[in-house]
Amino acid sequence: MKDVYILAVESSCDETSVSIIKNGFEDIATVINSQIDVHTKYGGVVPEVASRLHLENITMVIDECLERANMKLEDMDAFACTYAPGLLGSLLVGVEATKALAFIYNKPLIATNHMMGHIYANMIGNKLEYPLLSLIVSGGHTDLILMNSENEFEYLGQTLDDAIGEAYDKVARILDLPYPGGPNVEKYALQGEPTYKMPNILNDDSYNFSFSGIKSHVNNLVHNEHQRGNEVNKYDIARSFQDCVTEHLVDKTKKALLNYNLKTFLISGGVAANTHIREALKSMCDSIGVEMHMPEKKYCTDNAAMIGAAAYVLYKNKQFSPLSTNAQSHIRL
Ligand code: KG4
Ligand code: ZN
Repeated sequence: MKDVYILAVESSCDETSVSIIKNGFEDIATVINSQIDVHTKYGGVVPEVASRLHLENITMVIDECLERANMKLEDMDAFACTYAPGLLGSLLVGVEATKALAFIYNKPLIATNHMMGHIYANMIGNKLEYPLLSLIVSGGHTDLILMNSENEFEYLGQTLDDAIGEAYDKVARILDLPYPGGPNVEKYALQGEPTYKMPNILNDDSYNFSFSGIKSHVNNLVHNEHQRGNEVNKYDIARSFQDCVTEHLVDKTKKALLNYNLKTFLISGGVAANTHIREALKSMCDSIGVEMHMPEKKYCTDNAAMIGAAAYVLYKNKQFSPLSTNAQSHIRL
């Protein structure tokens, strides 16, 4: 079969990223232009600023990606973009730019769901066997999804309140650690001990998650200690928090793997870059004979390579999108 090259664009939050992916699993070139430095000043992503920066950068990032790949727009078989979910203004920039390319070069447009992208980050340089269980842990999602075949998604559980990444970011704020919180909480946790007692999280029979209780617990703990004039040990709080949320992920995932008798598991999303969480899930999978896949860390946080990989699945099924496609802030897989 002829090789298929897809140019993919990701702009759903604060990364402008463009990638060229060959046959759904080979990363020919990926450029990620992060806006983190700008948003750090405000302690989080400012949507209006994000969309303006995407607009300023998108053409430059496309050109740089083509240059790195030593390819031309004419060489592409399709153009893909993230169309949902995410910040509307940010998504629109990527969607409109990609629509223009598909129109000019008369090639299919593939509007791709960002969460499908996270899952298929696992396909880059890797082959997947179905059925499998997929856990997405990101800034907006904590989802357990059963996939009986390649393009089929059955939600088993999700967070009832905050996403795990959101909890990491909020705990970072409470501890006065800079944005983005997740990687900084991880760094502090590495140097701490689990000395603080954390609450039991949603110890029920469902496959759902909950992270707002532990966030409030950390908030109250720090607040009460400060009111008493005591200093808190940020390293130990970060470690205690991380151990607690990791155990929650491991418990629910293990239950789903056993109850559905699954032999393959994959993790994805920004929080999947966390070494402690990767190792804890891997050792649980080893203990029950499940093969675990995890993307390289650079493919966990937002990037266009994962959108190119997911778009290839849609390309094979001829699931193309009309040029009237619009960005959507909320949508499920
Ligand atoms: O997938 P992602 O890049 O964007 C969304 O689609 O949301 O995930 C971003 C989230 C943020 O909450 C960030 O703090 C968290 O992933 N994150 C981490 C780590 N790296 C990124 N959380 C914990 N440990 C990390 N190493
Ligand atoms: Zn994401």
